[in-house]
Amino acid sequence: MNIEKEQIKDDEIILAIETSCDETAAAVIQGGSSILSNVVASQIESHQRFGGVVPELASRHHTENITWVVEEALTDAGVIFADLDAVAVTAGPGLVGALLVGVNAAKAIAFAHGLPLLPVHHIAGHIQAARLERPWHYPALALVVSGGHTELVLLKDEGEYEVIGQTRDDAAGEAYDKVARSLNLSYPGGPQIDKLAREGETIIPFPIAWLEEGSYDFSFSGLKSAVINKLHNAKQKGEVFRKEDVAASFQRSVIEVLTEKTKRAAAQYGVKQVVVVGGVAANKGLRQSMKDIFSNTEVELTIPPLALCTDNAAMIGAAAHIQWKKNIQADWNLNGKADLALF
Ligand code: KG4
Ligand code: ZN
Repeated sequence: MNIEKEQIKDDEIILAIETSCDETAAAVIQGGSSILSNVVASQIESHQRFGGVVPELASRHHTENITWVVEEALTDAGVIFADLDAVAVTAGPGLVGALLVGVNAAKAIAFAHGLPLLPVHHIAGHIQAARLERPWHYPALALVVSGGHTELVLLKDEGEYEVIGQTRDDAAGEAYDKVARSLNLSYPGGPQIDKLAREGETIIPFPIAWLEEGSYDFSFSGLKSAVINKLHNAKQKGEVFRKEDVAASFQRSVIEVLTEKTKRAAAQYGVKQVVVVGGVAANKGLRQSMKDIFSNTEVELTIPPLALCTDNAAMIGAAAHIQWKKNIQADWNLNGKADLALF
């Protein structure tokens, strides 16, 4: 549907839908920063017994949950379909079968109610969770750390994303989850390692992958293998390590490379704001380390609350606001794309 330029108001009401992984989520956002509702149906319990997300199971759960999650989001917000100005949906990246459930629900609602359809990139969504907290100051730098992503993204202006660094193998959250599994902790392991790390000492010298000089890329698979090998060798030799010390030592290696590269990039690009988002942004050690680095500087540090860091639809509505203002819409051919690029 075409909206005339002069019709574009900035207190629009958007229904946003997110189904890229294992959370079925819908939210109603006004003007890109006001959360009228934010509903998340987590599937963690269903996937826990398999030690990770099972794509087919995720799609089935999304199909079962999407209708009531959208209804609840509208009810919580106190709005009806007729009050909406647009429908936004995560179009990728993510699990393709999972994405398709959200994309088709959004298309159906947009078509039935004659509303514009706004396609949102999942990482742009994670990054824009920050605008639900406070307004942006450009240039800004976003560290996106989740189960599927580890990226340093430069924002020169509104909605202009430039990926300056990314993981070459495992994502930070993925490394947490795999190390947790080798310590016999349940999925998702990040929060448990974070907790154990606070009770342990950093006495095991695990490697840190700095990569080439000046590179803002990351690599966590070597660290993950080092932890698994250490535990394996110790078992064979009858050595015993405290889980707390393994967690603390592993976490130190992850946090050091994340914070140091963020600090260097912030200085190189002269950014006014640093934003840390994604599930791993819940990590207490990472939050503290970022605060230590930026607290006495000119750089404003924004780390949204946990509920906005892990997958949710409020962040999708926040990102959709930029597309709404620029009148960037999808047509009825919109499809879920597992490897959608940020540009
Ligand atoms: O953003 P998210 O909810 O989903 C993805 O888009 O991936 O992130 C989930 C990831 C999981 O790998 C989980 O272990 C990790 O975030 N995570 C943590 C913590 N809380 C969640 N990692 C480290 N410390 C935490 N406190
Ligand atoms: Zn995510």
